[in-house]
Amino acid sequence: MEKLVSTPKKKNTLERKEFMKQVGIGFGGILLMNCLQACSDSEIPDPMPGGSGDKVDITLDLNLTANNSLNTLGGFVVSGGVIVARTLDDNFIAVSSACTHQGTTINYRAAEKDFLCPLHLSEFSETGAVEKGPATSPLTRYNVTSDETANTVRIFE
Ligand code: FES
Repeated sequence: MEKLVSTPKKKNTLERKEFMKQVGIGFGGILLMNCLQACSDSEIPDPMPGGSGDKVDITLDLNLTANNSLNTLGGFVVSGGVIVARTLDDNFIAVSSACTHQGTTINYRAAEKDFLCPLHLSEFSETGAVEKGPATSPLTRYNVTSDETANTVRIFE
């Protein structure tokens, strides 16, 4: 006669409890990290992760679709914490893309020859100077060179 052996259910219950405990610890850790970040004194996120010692040096290939706006006068591209614009006078300009008020990504307005923050409407000149608050600090201005043969633009400090 065959005897049926049943698996104890308690083992599954313990595994489930252990699993829920692990998930709870992981979830709690994520919440703690977010809370610590939100409560820090830093108003503006670092636009260039990796430390302040890193210098901006970006080359944009204007043949790529992502950078296609720079093939048009008045167009702009945001890349690597930098906003690069092509003025209506056909010059390339570049400044840091994070508004100095609370870090919102700014836009370029070719007709007004300035940068506008869409959140609280701070305005910055084409050199990054504050034209209208609430921002009080200027944007960082970068050097720009263009290579018409390669169809690239280099932004650097
Ligand atoms: S975040 Fe730009 S003006 Fe406030």
